[in-house]
Parts: sequence; structure tokens; C-alpha cells
Amino acid sequence: MKNQSLTFLIALAALPLGWCQEQFDAVAALANLGLDVSGYGTEQSASLIGQDASSLAARSVVLGCKYSVRQCAALALLSGQVAYPNSSAYHLEESGYWSNCQAEVEPICIYQPSTSTGVSAAILLSRLTQCPFAVKSGGHAAFANASNIEGGITINLAKLNEIELSADKKLASLGPGNTWYDVYTTLEEYNATVIGGRVAAIGVGGLTLGGGISFFSNQYGWACDNVANYEVVTATGEIIDVSYNSSHRDLYYALRGGGNNFGIVTRFDLYAYPQGLMWGGATIYLIEESPALLDALYSFSNEASSDPNAALIVSYAYTEGQYLAVTELEYALPEANPPIFNAFLATPNISDTTAITSLSSLTVGLNESNPGGLRDTFWTATYKVDRDLMDNLVQEYQLQTNAILNVTNLVPTFSFQIITTDQLSHMGSDGGNALGLTEADGPLILLSVAFMWIDPADDETVLKACQNIVDNTVEYAKAKGLDHEYLYMNYASQYQNVVPSYNATNQARLAAVAKTYDPTGVFQTLQPGHFKLSGAPAGSVIG
Ligand SMILES: Cc1cc2nc3c(=O)[nH]c(=O)nc-3n(C[C@H](O)[C@H](O)[C@H](O)COP(=O)(O)OP(=O)(O)OC[C@H]3O[C@@H](n4cnc5c(N)ncnc54)[C@H](O)[C@@H]3O)c2cc1C
Ligand SMILES: *[C@@H]1O[C@H](CO)[C@@H](O)[C@H](O)[C@H]1NC(C)=O
Ligand SMILES: *[C@@H]1O[C@H](CO)[C@@H](O)[C@H](O)[C@H]1NC(C)=O
Ligand SMILES: *[C@@H]1O[C@H](CO)[C@@H](O)[C@H](O)[C@H]1NC(C)=O
Ligand SMILES: *[C@@H]1O[C@H](CO)[C@@H](O)[C@H](O)[C@H]1NC(C)=O
Ligand SMILES: *[C@@H]1O[C@H](CO)[C@@H](O)[C@H](O)[C@H]1NC(C)=O
Ligand SMILES: *[C@@H]1O[C@H](CO)[C@@H](O)[C@H](O)[C@H]1NC(C)=O
Ligand SMILES: *[C@@H]1O[C@H](CO)[C@@H](O)[C@H](O)[C@H]1NC(C)=O
Ligand SMILES: *[C@@H]1O[C@H](CO)[C@@H](O)[C@H](O)[C@H]1NC(C)=O
Repeated sequence: MKNQSLTFLIALAALPLGWCQEQFDAVAALANLGLDVSGYGTEQSASLIGQDASSLAARSVVLGCKYSVRQCAALALLSGQVAYPNSSAYHLEESGYWSNCQAEVEPICIYQPSTSTGVSAAILLSRLTQCPFAVKSGGHAAFANASNIEGGITINLAKLNEIELSADKKLASLGPGNTWYDVYTTLEEYNATVIGGRVAAIGVGGLTLGGGISFFSNQYGWACDNVANYEVVTATGEIIDVSYNSSHRDLYYALRGGGNNFGIVTRFDLYAYPQGLMWGGATIYLIEESPALLDALYSFSNEASSDPNAALIVSYAYTEGQYLAVTELEYALPEANPPIFNAFLATPNISDTTAITSLSSLTVGLNESNPGGLRDTFWTATYKVDRDLMDNLVQEYQLQTNAILNVTNLVPTFSFQIITTDQLSHMGSDGGNALGLTEADGPLILLSVAFMWIDPADDETVLKACQNIVDNTVEYAKAKGLDHEYLYMNYASQYQNVVPSYNATNQARLAAVAKTYDPTGVFQTLQPGHFKLSGAPAGSVIG
């Protein structure tokens, strides 16, 4: 086995170093991991490749990847499981993406490392081959290439699935291969929880790196403000612990909202809190109740701090020929119908699942109402709270949706959340996060536009309708001084400029951190998917 893997590695190593533009010595870094690729550049290795060096010169970074099959083979022999196209394992992997827009992207292979060192080897080998990669945690990012890569290597973190609660129940160490359902069900045995996602199958990785809104955020802040320590594999393949009081304070800041731009996180140590049963669920209303619900939402935005146990989402849907309104009302204690929700509770509903239940079962309910296997797009915008603006937003949603009702199996969802001042008050802790929001900005309306459909032929129609909703409402808000530049990474489309929206100072600070830890931009160029430091992954023009 050892000899065989050496052969692969020699063959692989012979390929690229000479053509890398970077000065980094990946061969030496691999040697530090115990991987001997010292045969690089020998006659023997050249014949193993059977390829003249010069023919590689014109290879493009994103689509090249001619030799990544050897990289896949090396990874398979070294430290993990690798699935190739047209194998049943590969199809199973592809079906693990929530959105079909991502499931249809075809990597050359999908690699499942089972250790942080295995992740390190993947980065170093990619630096050698200059073969691009993507990283997948829960696979819930909606657009193509966010956590999968056409013609590159996809690293699925599923096997990094540690869940460990410290003896004092104050810290939970979580591998990025976990879904929040795995995490919550495990911690519930100890009457503990962490600040994470509200839908069962979302991954720990993407949600936490982009921000992370939880049912408990009015009390404890967003997920990114509840990370005590990150274990990170950097561009040089080093495995480091990153906390506020470590020697990597700048990287700690950057990871709090900076997405996949700084390294691959192989463990999140999250603050844990006591949690027993709670109350919550979904309630459906006829569209005629919309004004009353928006009145209630408006009041909540100003009164949320009177009871931080409360959380809510107000959404709109279109089904079987009619628009409906839907609320998610949640309360962190096992108390039905808490008074902070009185205005909602006084609004007549047509269906109601609220009950005293566990966090994990609430996330299963929301998982069922957000099925995978469809085409999906998410769009976002942020506004100051204004009651008249809420009406304009709902009108624009209906206007744009009405124009595309010809789209087969369209499921158009439109949701309001409030970024409360309580949530914002946690964003400055431990040096602050990267999002560019301060308490003085609040409260804010956070919009998410999430449309589902089935036929790829409708992609452009649906995307343009969503873009119109965002563009037209932001224009309306600007005219009234109600706009806010912030774009939430986890709800943004591939055409939205997320990192620059954090404000110019923070964008520059993030670029400086990247320059320190990743001077040649491995995570900017070799991992092209998702929101890069310079802007949107797909430009601004649809189609
Ligand atoms: C049905 C549904 C419900 C949602 N509910 C919520 C919610 O309640 N609260 C909320 O805040 N958001 C929510 N979101 C948005 C969600 O946070 C984002 O979609 C997020 O990107 C999903 O994370 P993931 O790990 O599942 O996705 P993935 O697609 O696996 O990852 C997203 C991005 O993060 C990167 N990444 C993931 N893990 C790592 C890692 N360990 N190291 C480096 N990079 C990594 C990936 O490379 C990719 O670019 C929801 C989304 C959906 C579809
Ligand atoms: C997978 O199978 C399809 C259908 O037989 C074929 O067209 C395609 O080239 C195969 N892909 C690979 C990478 O083998
Ligand atoms: C995904 O990447 C492929 C290959 O680079 C590209 O052709 C495609 O347009 C990308 N998709 C999106 C939505 O950006
Ligand atoms: C969790 O809480 C329940 C209900 O209060 C209690 O019966 C149980 O013993 C607690 N479990 C632990 C591990 O503390
Ligand atoms: C960092 O260290 C200081 C000084 O010891 C301490 O007061 C603070 O609580 C520490 N912060 C964290 C997040 O550990
Ligand atoms: C929904 O309506 C029922 C019947 O009137 C009522 O008992 C229930 O409290 C309502 N639920 C909510 C969340 O308003
Ligand atoms: C979430 O939903 C998907 C289908 O959309 C399903 O495959 C998965 O098992 C569900 N997860 C949980 C924990 O309910
Ligand atoms: C649906 O309507 C939109 C807007 O009028 C149009 O652009 C699109 O081509 C139509 N799609 C279908 C499938 O008819
Ligand atoms: C950018 O955002 C940070 C908070 O993340 C804030 O402290 C700073 O003042 C903002 N800078 C500008 C120029 O707005």
C-alpha cells in the first residue's frame, strides 16, 4: 500500500511545481505530513505521467484539472474515501446537496477526509496540481459551485463529525460534517444546546462561517458570535487553533462572517447553553391577514428586547392559486402562547402546528417544509424598519411572482426577519465580527427571497424575478432613506456583492488577513466557489 501511494504521489508531484506561479514549497509541506513526494521532476516520474511539461502551460486554473484524477487517486490511497463519476457512491454524494443547481455540478471526484491532516493533504496537493477544489459541509448553499465544483475536487467534510460537550457543559466541539439535527439531538440528552441553524439538515460549516441566525439569537447573538475557537487548516496546510486570545486574533475576526475565504475549518468549539423543551411551530393565515401580521411584526421589531426568549419569521407563499402568510413563532421556554406574541395570536389562522416540543423536532418540521431535490435561488437585502416599506416589499413580491406564474412547480417564498438590537449587541464581542453591523444600525429588516422550481429552462426567468424584487425594493427604500447596504452571505445569490457590503474598512481588513495567512490567494483562486473577498461569484448580470 505504502509503495503504491508513493508511486502515485511521485507521478503527481512531477506535474505541477514547475508551473505553479507560487513560491510555496508544497513538496516540503507534504513531507511534513509524512508524504514523500521527493521524486518530483525525475525522469521516472515524467514517464509515469507520459506528458510533456509544456503542454500544460496553457491550462486554465478553473477548467484545467487534467491531472486531478491522479490527485484523487493519491488522496484515496492516503487518507480517505474517494468517489468517481458514474459510481453509486458518487451519485449518493451528489444527492446530498439540497439544491439541484448544486447537485448537477460534476467534480472529477469527491473526497471525504476523515482527519484534519487529510484536509491538509488535499489543500497541499491542490497547490501542487493547481487543481481547483470546493468544500462541502451541509450542502445547503443554493447556487451552483458554492460547495461543489465542475471539473475540480470536492472535499466533503461529512466524516469530520465529532460532537463533544465539555464536562462543565459550557463548550461543544463540533466537526463541520455534522448537521444541526445531529448536534441538537446529541446535546438534548444533556439539556444543552448551541447557537445554530433552524432547519435540521443544514450544515454546521456554512451557516456558522456566514453568520448564523438561531431561534436563540435575541438572547445570545448569531452563531458566528458564539464560536470560542476554530480549528483551521490554512493555505499552507498547517492546522491551527484560532480564538480571540490566541496569536491569531485577526483570523478569529475574519472567520466570524468571512465565509470560506481563509481556510477550511475542521472543528468549531461553540459556547453551549442550558436548554430544555421550548414552544413553537408554523401558523398559516389567509392573505387578508397580512396587514395585521405586518403591524405585529413592526411592533415586535421595537419591543423584542422586552423578551429575548422570542424569535420569529413572517413569510409569504403562493400555493394552489392563492397567496398565504405564514409565521414561525418560537419561544425558548416551554410556555405556550407567550404574551410577546399577543398581536400574532389575535390574528385568525387557518392552520397551526405550534406546540411545546424540542428544538430538534422544530428543526425537523422546518426541514419538511424546505424539501431538497428542486432548483433553488436565495436573494437578500437589508432595510431600516418601516411599516410602509413592508407593504411595498410584499406588493413587489406579488407583482414579480404574478409575472412568472407560468413557471412549472414554482414555490416562491418571501420572508421577513428582524435583526434586533439585541442580536446586534453581541456582534461587537471579543473584537467584533466582520459583518459591518453595529447596535446603532438596529433594528433592521432582513429579507430573504427563496424561490424553488424544477425546470432548468426556467432558471433565468426565476432569477430575474428575484433580482427585480431586490433591486426595485432597494431603490424604493433608498428614495426614502430606508436602505442598508448589508447583505447576509447565507441568504445571498451568486449575483450579490456580499463582502464589499460589510463596509470598506472591514473588506480591507479581511483582505489584509487573507494576505497574512494566504499570500498567494489559494482560497480566492483555487477555491473559486461562493463569496470571494472581491465580490459576487457570478458577476452581476444574469444569463
Ligand atoms: C432550507 C434552508 C434553511 C436555512 N435556515 C437558516 C437558518 O435558520 N439560519 C441561518 O442563518 N441560515 C439559514 N439558511 C442559510 C444557510 O446558513 C446557508 O445556506 C449555509 O451556507 C448552509 O451551510 P451548509 O454547511 O449547509 O452549506 P454548504 O453548501 O456545505 O457550505 C456553504 C459554504 O460554506 C463553505 N464551508 C462550509 N463548511 C466549511 C468549512 N468547515 N470550512 C470552510 N468553508 C466551509 C462551503 O465551501 C460553501 O462555500 C438556510 C438555508 C436553507 C437552504
Ligand atoms: C458517465 O456515463 C454517461 C452515460 O453513460 C457518459 O456519457 C459519461 O461520459 C460518463 N462520465 C464519466 C466521467 O465516466
Ligand atoms: C459553475 O462553474 C462552471 C464551470 O466553471 C460554470 O460554467 C458555471 O457557469 C458556474 N455556475 C454558476 C451558477 O456560476
Ligand atoms: C434534563 O432535564 C430533564 C427535565 O427537567 C430531567 O428530567 C433530566 O434529568 C435532565 N437531564 C440531564 C442529563 O441533566
Ligand atoms: C481573553 O483574555 C482576557 C485576559 O486574560 C480575559 O479577560 C478574557 O476573558 C479572554 N477572552 C476570551 C474570549 O477568552
Ligand atoms: C390558531 O387558531 C386557533 C383556533 O382559533 C387558536 O387556538 C390558536 O391559538 C391560533 N394559533 C396561533 C399561533 O395564533
Ligand atoms: C431533511 O429533508 C431531506 C429531504 O428534503 C431528507 O433527506 C433528510 O433526511 C431530512 N433530515 C432530517 C434530519 O429530517
Ligand atoms: C414565463 O413568463 C416570463 C415573463 O413573461 C417569460 O419571460 C418566460 O419566458 C415564460 N416562461 C414560460 C415557460 O412560458
Ligand atoms: C464598519 O463596520 C464596523 C463594524 O463591523 C464598524 O465598527 C465600523 O465603524 C464600520 N466602518 C465604516 C467606515 O462604516
